[in-house]
Amino acid sequence: MQSTYIFLLFLFLISICANCNIARESTPIAQGLKDYADFPIGNSISIRKIIEDEKYRTMIKQNFNSITSGNDMKMYTIGREEGKYNWEKADETLAFCERNNQRIFGHTLVWHLGLPKWIQNNGKEHGADWVDEYLETYITKVVSRYKGKVAAWDVVNEAFETAGGNYRETFWYQYLGKEYIAKAFRYAHAADPEAELFYNDFNIERDTAKFLGVLKMIEELKSEGVPITGLGFQMHLRMDIPDEVIAYTLKKAGETGLKIHFSELDIIFNRHDDTKDGGEQVYKELTKEMEQAQAEKYKNLVLMYRKYIPKNQQYGITFWGCNDRDTWIKRFFGIEDWPTVFDENLNPKRAYYGFMEGLKEKIR
Ligand code: G3I
Repeated sequence: MQSTYIFLLFLFLISICANCNIARESTPIAQGLKDYADFPIGNSISIRKIIEDEKYRTMIKQNFNSITSGNDMKMYTIGREEGKYNWEKADETLAFCERNNQRIFGHTLVWHLGLPKWIQNNGKEHGADWVDEYLETYITKVVSRYKGKVAAWDVVNEAFETAGGNYRETFWYQYLGKEYIAKAFRYAHAADPEAELFYNDFNIERDTAKFLGVLKMIEELKSEGVPITGLGFQMHLRMDIPDEVIAYTLKKAGETGLKIHFSELDIIFNRHDDTKDGGEQVYKELTKEMEQAQAEKYKNLVLMYRKYIPKNQQYGITFWGCNDRDTWIKRFFGIEDWPTVFDENLNPKRAYYGFMEGLKEKIR
């Protein structure tokens, strides 16, 4: 009898502990970047790291009210096997965001990178009709599953060449021509008419030819009634990109009337040529002066966003990775750098406070 009581008590204590964990998990933590902004502040996450690393998880909850999945909602994750949809990581990401009252930004439905081999093979074997059918099926499945939950999608990512105003000849382009872009937006809209639908690209804040190419595409899409509602500037910035150039672009972007999202913000010091392992290690260590200059760059960027993008078009600013330890920059460009607002130990850098000042300062 006594052992039954002990067993029941044990079960009771376990259930209390479990509830404590859930309560702790879902209690919003105040006083992070999000609390100083009147638009969403986001970051990209990996759900595995969120689950495994408590310090990282706490920092994400404290600072960000919008979440983009870094890789877990890409086609190479969800659609990596033929005839099967792999929802696990995307579902876990959504559950985490829902518990913490964070907006979910879907990234990305259509991209040329990391396209699963089986899709490429089927394209070769069955041609354009199959590709179009798959595009529609994939977008419809994914967007409807998360209808009303994912607030916005990067529907098409990086459809333009790295430099200049020409379309990139991707898998999708080769089979469907540039029409794949309009089709993707239409399929996404049909699956969730309330979701905001973005075109997302890099270097458009600095490469005027590329930016004008994107603007022309947006005009064409709008004139054909394609349901595009947002433009994402990835904003993988470098310290030497002049603020004047960024300001010019942002003013013009505001005039489109689209929602504007800084979707993948980081600011690196060293140079690169935009290709894998194409980094040039100019700076070998981070000095106090460099840190200060980076803080000012972050601050100015926020001020420009607030000044040049009309209030009702400010969809938010999202960082791409939140610390100098895990940043994609080092792996991709093959260099050491310090592009984010948290250091390798997840402590806020000067850049963090620079960004915060940009949120707090009065705009003239
Ligand atoms: O998960 C595997 C791991 O098991 C393996 O040991 C390791 C070895 O390389 O690779 C790991 O996967 C890598 C994955 O990132 C997770 O770290 C892939 O190789 C790597 O290709 C993948 O890179 C991602 C890249 O997109 C390609 O999808 C980056 O993390 C991600 O930050 C980057 O994000 C893109 C945006 O989607 C679009 N804009 C540019 C941005 C930066 O490239």
